[in-house]
Amino acid sequence: MEINPEFGSMSSYAIHGLGHENAEHAHLLPIFSSSTFTFDSAQQGMDRFSGKEPGYMYSRFANPTVRAAEKLVAGLEAFGLKGADGKPLELRALLHASGQSAMATMMLANLSAGDVVLSHPSLYGGTYEFIYGMLPRFGIHALLDDLKDMDRLSMLLEKTPGLKLIHIETPANPTMGCIDLEAVCAVAGSRGVKVTVDNTFATPYLQQPFRYGVDFVFHSTTKFLNGHGTSIGGVLIGRDIAFMNTRGYDTYKLLGGTSSPFDAFLLTQGIKTLGLRMDRHCDNAERVAEFLTGHPAVSKVHYNGLKDHADAALTARQMRRAGAVMAFELKGGMKAGMRFIDRLRVCTRAVSVGTIDTLISHPASMSHSGMAPADRIKAGVTDGLIRMSVGLEALDDIIGDLGQAMKD
Ligand SMILES: Cc1ncc(COP(=O)(O)O)c(C=O)c1O
Repeated sequence: MEINPEFGSMSSYAIHGLGHENAEHAHLLPIFSSSTFTFDSAQQGMDRFSGKEPGYMYSRFANPTVRAAEKLVAGLEAFGLKGADGKPLELRALLHASGQSAMATMMLANLSAGDVVLSHPSLYGGTYEFIYGMLPRFGIHALLDDLKDMDRLSMLLEKTPGLKLIHIETPANPTMGCIDLEAVCAVAGSRGVKVTVDNTFATPYLQQPFRYGVDFVFHSTTKFLNGHGTSIGGVLIGRDIAFMNTRGYDTYKLLGGTSSPFDAFLLTQGIKTLGLRMDRHCDNAERVAEFLTGHPAVSKVHYNGLKDHADAALTARQMRRAGAVMAFELKGGMKAGMRFIDRLRVCTRAVSVGTIDTLISHPASMSHSGMAPADRIKAGVTDGLIRMSVGLEALDDIIGDLGQAMKD
């Protein structure tokens, strides 16, 4: 998709990128809530199915509202980037019913029995379970390493002939650790190994992984891209258009995790304020992290925007700003964590991230409560760990609420 050169900033593109190209001149994207599409004749049906005539057939295959949202998201990830030919980078997106289904399409389109996928420990739980719990049942093996040491990565690639894909989540929970995309792509690209990035926490506004040569990006659009928590969704975006239109598209269509047109519409509405929201999310998060750092009830703050975070320099190089997700550890362990959650008055008690309100959860008593304590702590989820997605409320209201909830 050619991006209109009029758009000097991604924020303007996010607002105007959809255009108004519809027969009725509707200002907003029309919702084509139709499972199927009609043919004027048998010949036309035949021509559409053979690809001779472009056009819609069935909404699991493609839908005009979903297509428009896909183009918008592809344009965001490609914004301002150039391909190897020096022309504006072209990307192809496939909009899914969840981030999890976008990730599954990507994995299953790329991997076959005997292949190996390499990733790192601090993954989103669903991705971890899929790669390490489910793929091995289909003969696809999984390796886990920290992906920080490029000599070690070169050695792993050399020693593992079936290694086809490196999956990265950056930044990632709970420590907000980051991985150097340029360095990984340099090592992987020279050996023909594909690199894929979960860009959910950053969004293309803060980080554009295709700049560094990655092959695929996916998002849980449920989070910052939608921004308002109105639906579950996901998107897979790829730079190899031929692959995306064949193996990628076929896998998407056959797994069937396609987006509903209404959710696609909600996504396009959310995206219009992406830049505005992300700037404010980051402004608030930076101040909240500073407040927590000096607080006597807090033993550690994990936020890659803090100067003393292990990946502060990488964050400054790779991201526009650090984002709005962070974690912090309360000194009093499980009891302090549960008491803090119960006392919140402004912030919302909920899992998930990326909505306009501040969301706070206590993983040890919520999302990770089913795990054996020893395993949970090994994964970095300590008893007093609080996960927070800083929202757009007035800063004083967020800080005031956190302060009163932590009071003795
Ligand atoms: C970083 C990340 N990736 C992927 C997912 C999965 O997305 P979804 O819940 O939309 O399937 C999540 C969900 O929390 C997430 O936080």
